[in-house]
Amino acid sequence: MAGVKLGLFEVLESQPRSAKELSILLNCSEQGIAALSDVLVGCGYLRKEGNSYVNTPLTKRWLVPSSPHYVGNYIKFNYDQWKWWSHVEDLIVEGKSIDIHERLDNEKEWRRYLYGMKDIAALTADEVIARVPVPKGAKRLLDLAGGHGMYSITMCRKHSNLQAVIFDLERAARVGQELIEMEGMADRISYKIGDLKSDEFGVDFDIVFLFNILHHFSPGVNYSTLKKIYDAMNPGGVIVILEALKAVDYSNQLALFLSLNFFIMSRADTYRYEEVRDWLQKVGFDNLKKKELRTAPGISIITGRK
Ligand SMILES: C[S@@+](CC[C@H](N)C(=O)[O-])C[C@H]1O[C@@H](n2cnc3c(N)ncnc32)[C@H](O)[C@@H]1O
Repeated sequence: MAGVKLGLFEVLESQPRSAKELSILLNCSEQGIAALSDVLVGCGYLRKEGNSYVNTPLTKRWLVPSSPHYVGNYIKFNYDQWKWWSHVEDLIVEGKSIDIHERLDNEKEWRRYLYGMKDIAALTADEVIARVPVPKGAKRLLDLAGGHGMYSITMCRKHSNLQAVIFDLERAARVGQELIEMEGMADRISYKIGDLKSDEFGVDFDIVFLFNILHHFSPGVNYSTLKKIYDAMNPGGVIVILEALKAVDYSNQLALFLSLNFFIMSRADTYRYEEVRDWLQKVGFDNLKKKELRTAPGISIITGRK
């Protein structure tokens, strides 16, 4: 985390550097940067060539901003998550949460959150989109709580007839809009600002994405969200849900850790497939299918039809 935050891997991308050179470039103490770099050599993130440090292939793939697999934004967001987790015991005792979507109040925090989520989405987007069953003649996609827009971008690039609407809170939409423009997709993807708990989503959608959002809300809110989605869709439309689902036998560790994480963040929970399936069936969706993601073990994709 410190290597990413200080920009260490970035400056090593152009050429090897000694601790003295790094201390000047990164404006830090020579002893401190040497200590950090040596640990990173020991962990396989850097190599030592003579007096200089060099990025390893692992670092070039994940930690250099020019890489398509860069996860540095997510690592920077971990500083926020670290702060929230640092008083997990108090939150457990008090039964309170950080309530991030209410509490994040400045532009910088929202940017770290959304850019972090974008890094994670980029790792799975191709596989997720390849698994979406697209109804014949589909024209309109609703990406509910789609934030950064990475999934809509990938979907619209793959299906040239699609236009997407990303529904999200105002702060998220501001950051997302900037990303959509950077990707040159503003003519195909627009934002609708709203709160999914109280606002309508629009109508005439053929596909709806509900990715990584059920875990921020109670079962009651999730049921009414699914009902509103059903009403917003055309007959034959497809709903796609992406979630870490708890297994009855406690075998999905990721979903269990995330359950505690979402208690801390939103006083919510991860859910079992059976719960999500029951909500979907009760609302009227059928042809339900669940598959596991290959690129993100522990995450499931659920599809259903109106
Ligand atoms: C964990 S991110 C998921 C983003 C994206 N769907 C993905 O899978 O990467 C949760 C998103 O839900 C949005 N969100 C949270 N509460 C919301 C609400 N009440 N109404 C609309 N969007 C909300 C956040 O702004 C954020 O973009």
